[in-house]
Amino acid sequence: MGRGSSCEISACVTRRRPYGQQLAGVKLTLELHDVTAKPLPQAAGSVDLVSMSSVLHVFDEPLPVLAEIRRVLAPRGIFLLHDWIRQPLATYLAYRRDEIKETGPDATRRAFRLFPVHNKYTPDDWRWLLAEAGLALRDHTQLRASHQIFVSGGLEGPPEPPALGHAPA
Ligand SMILES: C[S@@+](CC[C@H](N)C(=O)[O-])C[C@H]1O[C@@H](n2cnc3c(N)ncnc32)[C@H](O)[C@@H]1O
Repeated sequence: MGRGSSCEISACVTRRRPYGQQLAGVKLTLELHDVTAKPLPQAAGSVDLVSMSSVLHVFDEPLPVLAEIRRVLAPRGIFLLHDWIRQPLATYLAYRRDEIKETGPDATRRAFRLFPVHNKYTPDDWRWLLAEAGLALRDHTQLRASHQIFVSGGLEGPPEPPALGHAPA
């Protein structure tokens, strides 16, 4: 969410409960942007919170998307990345059958179609992607067997160059 406006990267939020109704006195706006087509409209370093839930695995190339998130994130901003983690085929099929309650031939076809989509990245892969994008990892946890959440607390990478006239001794 940028200062003064909000921006959802995922279209599925429109199916969810309208969060704005729970925030008295706050006017929320919803804008839909295709982050692969052009840069987000937010200025560099202006966004306090970026949250992506089950979205990043969809992109063929996650690094340009992460670079764009790094660009807009405020220096003390938070990036919440919640996404699928790789599971063995048998575990994934059992998860769909027992947790999502999908059964029958159509469900089996769907499960095999989605297996490579949902089981792309291990937790180590996600950590590597965040580091590669220059996003420092602050915490991570597993809320359910299929997903992990990674909390990036800002930017990692080479320190800012010293301000003119303040070179280190
Ligand atoms: C599996 S849904 C997850 C939706 C929701 N965040 C959730 O947790 O239920 C993947 C989402 O990625 C979004 N998405 C796919 N490609 C995108 C793109 N190029 N730019 C922005 N969002 C994209 C889709 O609109 C879709 O809402």
